[in-house]
Amino acid sequence: LNGERWAALMARALELAERGRYGASPNPMVGAVVLDRAGEVVGEGAHLRRGEAHAEVAALAAAGASAVGGTLVVTLEPCTHHGLTPPCVDAVIAARIARVVVGAHDPNPVIAGAGVARLREVGIEVVDGVEEAACRSLNRSYFFWRERGLPFVTLKMAMTLDGKLAPRGGRSQRITSEEARSAGYALREQMDALVVGVGTVLADDPRLLRHLGVNPNPHLRRVVLDSNLRTPATATLLAAHPEDVVIFCRDSATPERRRELEGTGATVVEVGGDDRGGCELHQVLRWLAGHEVSSVLVEGGGETHWSFLNEALAQEVVAFIAPLLLGGRDAVPAVGGTGFPSPLEGVRLRFVTLERLAEDVMIRAEVDGV
Ligand SMILES: NC(=O)c1ccc[n+]([C@@H]2O[C@H](COP(=O)([O-])OP(=O)(O)OC[C@H]3O[C@@H](n4cnc5c(N)ncnc54)[C@H](OP(=O)(O)O)[C@@H]3O)[C@@H](O)[C@H]2O)c1
Repeated sequence: LNGERWAALMARALELAERGRYGASPNPMVGAVVLDRAGEVVGEGAHLRRGEAHAEVAALAAAGASAVGGTLVVTLEPCTHHGLTPPCVDAVIAARIARVVVGAHDPNPVIAGAGVARLREVGIEVVDGVEEAACRSLNRSYFFWRERGLPFVTLKMAMTLDGKLAPRGGRSQRITSEEARSAGYALREQMDALVVGVGTVLADDPRLLRHLGVNPNPHLRRVVLDSNLRTPATATLLAAHPEDVVIFCRDSATPERRRELEGTGATVVEVGGDDRGGCELHQVLRWLAGHEVSSVLVEGGGETHWSFLNEALAQEVVAFIAPLLLGGRDAVPAVGGTGFPSPLEGVRLRFVTLERLAEDVMIRAEVDGV
């Protein structure tokens, strides 16, 4: 067995890890393959859902006694702590595995290399860093969240070819096709939280729920940036699962409004102000990161998108562009605010994918330097 074989097995483990794409968060997606002494695959596993078996444990269970003296190939180092399930290193040691092939180290500060160290300590051979870049990129939100203490932020914009979210006067009617809408809903399935500005709540009165039923976790945190608590207690987003709604405000919000919104079951959190009188986004994101939110989808509107870009707090943009021109200097732009004074100061992106969705185009772009 050589490096190429490890890489091929790691590719299989990465494929298995994908099975957790919609359920694992805020845990990482992890895949594992077990080989017996002779190098035959005897077990496979993935971490499908938070609180359920970790990938290594599932793969070892599938392998049973054939794992003795064998090899475990796993995309992320085995954990060493008691979370919702017992430490995976103990399961690896108990299974009498002789060698562990690891993709990436876990950036969780309570693990961070301790899994690999523990395995070596008890005499298990460790081959480290196999396909490390691919293992990290599979879990880019998880790594970003653990390493920076902030959620990975994606801005979603459904707009006209001339960059408008809605016509003059506000209320957005449908701009993009059904296919684009579904692709937008698919993004929600992968995120821990959605964020909108209060302008969008007042204009559209959205529900902001998951609609596709792909993510087994019914709870999606829904977040409103609302300095003065203008969100009505009758807002549709508070009608179902109000316990998942977090409304950020400033100290200018009145205690009466706060009590009224808390009375619906929502959480109201006061943060400091930014230089435009809005909620300070670093504080908002740090609060969310501390509440197990590793990824955020910002769904508008234009003022909110501007704030995230202006504060350099967005890592990715997904734009759905309809073949429609609305015009109007008072229409709602995809990105509002004051704008950057020169192209050099603008936010430079890198197009990652361009896709045709019915008559629309979907562009996924990463912010340079992420
Ligand atoms: N086509 C689409 O995909 C789409 C998606 C969403 C929205 N829309 C449209 O967009 C329009 C609303 O957009 P909008 O730009 O007017 O408003 P918005 O971005 O939804 O909300 C902006 C408001 O949020 C509050 N806020 C608090 N903290 C903030 C912060 N840090 N940064 C930015 N805002 C903060 C501010 O009000 P306070 O000062 O009161 O706190 C601000 O005026 C509607 O017409 C809606 O239909 C379209």
